[in-house]
Amino acid sequence: MRKLLLSLLLTCSIVGEVLAQGASSSSGEQKKTLYERLGGEAAISAVVDDFAQRVLADPRINQKFAKSNAPRLLYFLKQQICAATGGPCKYEGRDMQTAHRNMGITNGEFNALVEDLVATLNKFNVPKPEQDELLGILAPMRSQIVEVQSDATGTPLPADFKPAPPLPEKKIKAGPFPKKNQRKMKARR
Ligand code: HEM
Repeated sequence: MRKLLLSLLLTCSIVGEVLAQGASSSSGEQKKTLYERLGGEAAISAVVDDFAQRVLADPRINQKFAKSNAPRLLYFLKQQICAATGGPCKYEGRDMQTAHRNMGITNGEFNALVEDLVATLNKFNVPKPEQDELLGILAPMRSQIVEVQSDATGTPLPADFKPAPPLPEKKIKAGPFPKKNQRKMKARR
């Protein structure tokens, strides 16, 4: 009887383990973060670079960037997207309301920026579900960024707008993504 109970217990625990493994591997695909599905660091970096070029060439919005430091903006945009999509980054830039204060951004200009982003995502063949997920993460930021409820685009940057200072050269060189060995150390903790 004791033997029977023991072997029953053993079978149950083996079956339990197999089921648990099955559950984790079958949901493993679904559990991939948006960061991973977008292609990680290299892909996000390339997407943001292309997006920034598009924005700077877009007369509907490029006036707003006239005084700003491009390396700082790229650094924080990459870091923010990495963090918001479940990647290994921590966003260290300013909150969206502070960063966009006194720029007079309109609803129309916000829409123009989103259109530029979608054009980049299409160029990189990012599938629709991932595009929608990313846009869904950015959409709630609209109310913190838009100051003027109007469809107008190409509105000037107010003359008294003061841009944020550039980041130290060393920081820009190190980049917005944590180094691979830093990630391992974090995972071990
Ligand atoms: C969801 C949409 C947006 C996101 C996620 C976003 C994100 C960011 C981030 C992360 C920064 C850097 C913050 C920092 O320097 O600490 C920034 C700065 C900036 N953003 Fe946006 N932004 C968005 C929409 C817009 C729009 C619609 C415009 C203009 C049309 C705009 C213009 C700028 C400018 C000019 C700066 C530089 C500010 C400065 O130099 O002080 N952004 N944005």
